[in-house]
Amino acid sequence: MQYIKRTHTCGELRASDAGKNVTLTGWVDFQRDLGGVIFIVVRDRYGKTQVVFNPQNNLQLHQQAASLRSEDVVSVSGKVNHRPDGMINPNMPTGEIDITAEGLTIITKSDVPPFAVTDDVNASEELRLQYRYLDLRRPALQKNFIIRHQMYQITRKYYDELKFIEVETPILMKSTPEGARDYLVPSRVHHGKFYALPQSPQTYKQLLMVAGMDRYFQIVKCFRDEDLRADRQPEFTQIDVEMSFVDEEDIYQVTEGLMKRFFKEIKGIEIQTPFPRLTYKDAIETYGSDKPDLRFDLKFVTLNDLVQDSGFKVFADVVKKGGVVAGFVVPQCASYSRSQLDNLTDFAKKMGAGGLVWIKITAESVESPIEKFIGKEVLLSIKNKMKANTGDLILLISDSWIKTYTILGNLRLEIGKRLNFLDDSKNSLLWVTDFPMFECDENEKRYVAVHHPFTSPKLEDLPLLDSDPSKARARAYDLVLNGNEIAGGSIRIHDRSLQSKVFGLLGINEVQAKKKFGFLLEAFRYGAPPHGGIAFGFDRICMLLTGEKSIRDVIAFPKTTSAMSLMDDSPSEVDEAQLKELHIKIG
Ligand code: AMO
Repeated sequence: MQYIKRTHTCGELRASDAGKNVTLTGWVDFQRDLGGVIFIVVRDRYGKTQVVFNPQNNLQLHQQAASLRSEDVVSVSGKVNHRPDGMINPNMPTGEIDITAEGLTIITKSDVPPFAVTDDVNASEELRLQYRYLDLRRPALQKNFIIRHQMYQITRKYYDELKFIEVETPILMKSTPEGARDYLVPSRVHHGKFYALPQSPQTYKQLLMVAGMDRYFQIVKCFRDEDLRADRQPEFTQIDVEMSFVDEEDIYQVTEGLMKRFFKEIKGIEIQTPFPRLTYKDAIETYGSDKPDLRFDLKFVTLNDLVQDSGFKVFADVVKKGGVVAGFVVPQCASYSRSQLDNLTDFAKKMGAGGLVWIKITAESVESPIEKFIGKEVLLSIKNKMKANTGDLILLISDSWIKTYTILGNLRLEIGKRLNFLDDSKNSLLWVTDFPMFECDENEKRYVAVHHPFTSPKLEDLPLLDSDPSKARARAYDLVLNGNEIAGGSIRIHDRSLQSKVFGLLGINEVQAKKKFGFLLEAFRYGAPPHGGIAFGFDRICMLLTGEKSIRDVIAFPKTTSAMSLMDDSPSEVDEAQLKELHIKIG
């Protein structure tokens, strides 16, 4: 099909262009026949422009325009016309002008699309994912991908300026332990053997440090077979970073610099550095989360000292067993009705709580269902310790250390949502540091690494590896933005004997260690520099910078929560011949 090439994009023409002869190409956004005069709006990535077909100017052209439907691809030529006052559309950047059509080529006709390509689309997400290329035509999604593109450019420029080099690492590799299941790829050549897709390039970037690369970064796809959520995809993108001869402070500084650039260049916001820091223990004990949302306060107060000898057996028993009684003040919610309190109690129970204790601070006194057990005096000292005011509501949970705080953490977020405390115009960034080295895998009754097995313990905690490994803290850190974990990393072990010891604690014996990570341990024999690094969740940061609620909105071709691609229908069956070649039988 012959057509006239564009002279301008659909987002470009302004009043100052009036009188010019132009050609635009793009998709018909909509066509409207206003009893004689036909208006169409032509759309491309850059914007939308209105074109007018007047039968009095050219009847044949007008008839051709009458056949246009949404999503037809056209080339349209004509003269730029300054719209008269009253016809100006202030909501459109090109709204001061329109084009008086003088020529039209319908390049391709479109079938009726399964949903209208508009930002207030009301089609289901399934349908939109099935026809993702139509969904992606929507200006809101195109804006997201332009921001994503900016993020790539800012990242590359930033690290290049700081003398980092970008190195690609293999996609077909040996399994790495990032805590999720691997995606496996069978080898045709090596019967019965498998590659794993990288959960991250962790081992490779450490090997690059042994190789003397000093400062590495990569924008890289990672693959993890895990349960999916709004902020998790089976394949996602990291900005992966590793540096030699550094400690935590160097990593924080370089990482904060990139975040500063993202905010400045994408949102025009100056963010303050250094970011605040909280240890894991303080984050849990104060906000009930290792990724606390600090856009609002609602800090926890631990009340063990006040309640351990009180007459309320539930609290006294919990303290005796080494647990915790703690809570927080919900400002000005003493007016909550019985059913609102029941509803919060149900919420807490769903999170695993045995119950939820509330105390209302009234003008006269305090009011609580536990008053008859604990006495007014203790309630008043709780009120004082928690600095509660008249009209406030206190919520208390009692259970083991982790359960009490985690349940309170969930309640805090729920209350934050209900009271509209989650202000999207705020950007609260913080480091969470000093994570534990190990956590207990309840099923397998053994230690697993909280970060990964290559993370160094804090030097002052080395003796704990022998006496009480569960208390040893790691040189690991996460970066949190508005309650989202957006990056995580650690200073690594660069000493073979310490690495072997940590493997031992993780139940990986020497033979297994050799089999799984022999190549890394071997490399450490030949001069490993001290090193550490971090990886950013690129999609999550992009989601937050674009103001989206799901990372699917910033990934061109995402998977559903059941890891399906609805557009190309993968995963799908393969030919018998392919399976045979791989020596695979489907059971
Ligand atoms: P980690 O496992 O913490 O660290 O991952 C780094 C960051 O990647 C993001 N992320 C995800 N984003 C989308 N979908 C997922 N399934 C997903 N999983 C993780 C998170 C997270 O903070 N090798 C280490 C890094 C290091 O130690 O340097 C690692 O991968 O934002």
